[in-house]
Amino acid sequence: MTESWDTIADWYAELLRTGSALHDFARDSLLCRVPENLAGAPVLDLGCGEGMVARAVAARGASVVGIDPAPRMIANARAIERGRPSGAVFSVDDGCTLATIGTGCVEWVTAGLSLNNVPDLDAALSAVHRVLVPGGCLVFTIPHPCFEAPHAAWTRTDNGTVRRVVGDYLTEGFWRSTNPEGVRRAGNQHRKLSTYLTALTGHGFRIEAVEEPVPDAAVIAAQPQRAGLPPFMLFQARSA
Ligand SMILES: C[S@@+](CC[C@H](N)C(=O)[O-])C[C@H]1O[C@@H](n2cnc3c(N)ncnc32)[C@H](O)[C@@H]1O
Repeated sequence: MTESWDTIADWYAELLRTGSALHDFARDSLLCRVPENLAGAPVLDLGCGEGMVARAVAARGASVVGIDPAPRMIANARAIERGRPSGAVFSVDDGCTLATIGTGCVEWVTAGLSLNNVPDLDAALSAVHRVLVPGGCLVFTIPHPCFEAPHAAWTRTDNGTVRRVVGDYLTEGFWRSTNPEGVRRAGNQHRKLSTYLTALTGHGFRIEAVEEPVPDAAVIAAQPQRAGLPPFMLFQARSA
């Protein structure tokens, strides 16, 4: 069976429910760039999945809409919201069009590990720029393009050290992990770091922060081999 975000949605929700140090770390890295007090602020969470970022932003007082093209992700987000209301609302939509979101009506767009899944980055950034108020902010994380390039793998050297082996960095496009337990068995759009930076400025964003968050203790406890490498990159960009 060829997996998609829709077919792995229940698996993904269960992964996060039972606790994934890596995903908690990615969410917390993103939240560090978002104000603690967002009372009444309209926020869009693009590629919300089962809603972990949207709920955390709603807990800061924001009026959050989470969108995702995978209907099963949205069904799970709504089910979690019914059980533990945060105020976030969820709808099926594509980050490349944001057809359900009006023009110039959100102050923040968060996108946790989702822009590396959109098939057309230019279309997504154009849509994000459209929905943001002038001066509004986009904050997003992606798997680090250098270390999480297609088919990057861990290997043990002769002296027992575990190292990351990376190839195919320059080959952009869709790829799918062959790891049946891996998140990216659903597929992933690989892009070079320069592609993200160039696209942001090209779509009228002023880049305010680029970070490579250092893995926290929980990530290293779960996956010691990750201690020396940043698993994610974070970008904050303001709509000019
Ligand atoms: C790794 S999950 C991240 C979900 C959530 N943001 C989180 O932090 O748990 C990637 C998400 O990107 C979504 N996605 C895939 N294609 C997309 C698109 N064209 N527009 C918006 N989201 C998309 C997937 O459906 C999936 O929910």
